[in-house]
Amino acid sequence: MTDLDSLQTEALAEIDSVRDVDALESLRIRFLGKKGLLTEQLKALGKLPRDSRPAAGQKINRIKSRVQQAVEEKKSRLQESVLHSRLSSETLDITLPGRRQNLGSLHPVTRILTRIREYFLQHGFAVVEGPEVEDEFHNFEALNIPAHHPARAMHDTFYFGDNLLLRTHTSSVQIRLMQHQAPPMRVIAPGRVYRCDSDPTHSPMFHQVEGLLVDEQVSFADLKSTLIKFLQVFFEDENLPIRFRPSYFPFTEPSAEIDVAMVDSESGDIRWLEVIGCGMVHPAVFEKVGIDADRYRGYAFGMGVERLAMLRYRIDDLRLFFDNDLRFLQQFA
Ligand code: PHE
Repeated sequence: MTDLDSLQTEALAEIDSVRDVDALESLRIRFLGKKGLLTEQLKALGKLPRDSRPAAGQKINRIKSRVQQAVEEKKSRLQESVLHSRLSSETLDITLPGRRQNLGSLHPVTRILTRIREYFLQHGFAVVEGPEVEDEFHNFEALNIPAHHPARAMHDTFYFGDNLLLRTHTSSVQIRLMQHQAPPMRVIAPGRVYRCDSDPTHSPMFHQVEGLLVDEQVSFADLKSTLIKFLQVFFEDENLPIRFRPSYFPFTEPSAEIDVAMVDSESGDIRWLEVIGCGMVHPAVFEKVGIDADRYRGYAFGMGVERLAMLRYRIDDLRLFFDNDLRFLQQFA
């Protein structure tokens, strides 16, 4: 038998100096595997004289378990150092800013609508709505615009045929209201309207807020003061340059349009932008809806929401509101 003590010394020394887990595994096989050096020693026991076999066997087994234990210990030390080096090389930089959520925001037109609605709610007006698909009667007839009236041509109407159309203004809501309600009334009617039209200050769909006040004592002075006050509050400017221009609508008499000055930021030139059409409710309209025109008077107005938004946010092309370009919309967040 080979010298068992030197076999043990050799094994322990090699285990001690091994540098990685794979090399350790081949060492283990070399000493402890099925055909390993120590296993061979056990197999060779049979060649010893019978009485020295037990002592030799015990010794080999003791050495085997010493070596076995040394391998285990070395293995866990090697694994630990692998873990340590990974932990120190794979660091997480937790100082990087996190991913932020993209918060949406209200559309500028929605914000302007809310602003208008809130003003009039505070001034005693109720908010009502009407259908976007209208009939000729509510959109034209009852508003004193009979068939073939030149005013119809100005409306660039989208027709469905069969008397149906997309409403060209919110004035149709005035009619629906007065048909079903007795004066006094004081309402606004916000909503979408449609005209076959597209340029920097017109889009085929836009928003209006209609206003209607009917009572026994109502004058053009009431209309003027109501709208001037509204515009001053809306634009937060008591010296707002406003101009009332005589105008014509078949459903109001007298009629006016209100322009607000838009100052060009580069040239300083003043450009008047029409934002509101208004007037005193025409007696012919009262007659159509069955309201006593001798007893009641009313004023009505219709404002262009996108026009007001253009002025408030200094935007020179109304179509930007409908492109849904995030670079534009995010500026209102
Ligand atoms: N309906 C008119 C338009 O769309 C505006 C208006 C409303 C005028 C009410 C007078 C009274 O241009």
